[in-house]
Amino acid sequence: MKIAGSVALVTGADRGLGRAFARELVSRNAARVYGAARDPAAVTEPGVTPVALDITDPERVARVARECADVTLLVNNAGVMKASPFIGAPSLDAARLEMEVNYFGTLSMCRAFAPVLAAGGGGAIVNMLSVTSFFTSPLDPSYSASKAAELSLTNGVRMELSRQGTLVVAVHAGFIDTDMAAGIDAPKISPESVAQQAFDAVEAGDIEVLTDERSKSIKASLSRDHELIYPPLQQAFFGAPVGGSA
Ligand SMILES: NC(=O)c1ccc[n+]([C@@H]2O[C@H](COP(=O)([O-])OP(=O)(O)OC[C@H]3O[C@@H](n4cnc5c(N)ncnc54)[C@H](OP(=O)(O)O)[C@@H]3O)[C@@H](O)[C@H]2O)c1
Repeated sequence: MKIAGSVALVTGADRGLGRAFARELVSRNAARVYGAARDPAAVTEPGVTPVALDITDPERVARVARECADVTLLVNNAGVMKASPFIGAPSLDAARLEMEVNYFGTLSMCRAFAPVLAAGGGGAIVNMLSVTSFFTSPLDPSYSASKAAELSLTNGVRMELSRQGTLVVAVHAGFIDTDMAAGIDAPKISPESVAQQAFDAVEAGDIEVLTDERSKSIKASLSRDHELIYPPLQQAFFGAPVGGSA
């Protein structure tokens, strides 16, 4: 599908990667770019039409799908990361919020916009996932679970929507240089590069984008994850030997 002439909606378009997605769509001559955000006044990118949207509000999601019935490209970018462990967290609040936004919010958007995309001839969905969709990071364990769930829904939605000709693209990244990774001292890819690679994939009809070295190396290690991925993390973060009881 061509970005030029498409009508796109980006969630979380007020800052970070969402803003970069919206800017890239404008620069590629999308016919219209809806910038959805909880605070639409914060969507200030030239050429972007602000839309009020909290993706965890099902009534609002349904209304936006009715109001933006010309959308041919849905970019599910909005997400939250609370850097919360499973056992050490004081409550389930962070884990629930991450699931609510990253999994249920994205699922809700896919469901609401599936008929809109079908009416427009198929179109495409871009789901912004993570390298943590592939493995559990000790930095953000419950976020990793929500991003793994979001990958699972992405694969399922792709199969379900194949009959209506909708391309469903999974985009993975390690650290991106935005507010979400501000506290991390590690190599980060630019949001502009992620946006460019994602829309190159839409135009090429690719279903998966591994935007950086971290995503590529983790995915390549998955068949031996209990040798290559988890033992070094366990050692580095918990100082504990590999395996269970001696
Ligand atoms: N940064 C990274 O290292 C990294 C790596 C891999 C993947 N990702 C993914 O990339 C995406 C964008 O993240 P980012 O790096 O740009 O993070 P960010 O700077 O923290 O921005 C998150 C965006 O999501 C929006 N959002 C959060 N909850 C929402 C809700 N309930 N409804 C609507 N919008 C909501 C935020 O809106 P407000 O401004 O209203 O809070 C903000 O626009 C996320 O899906 C994230 O998981 C990020």
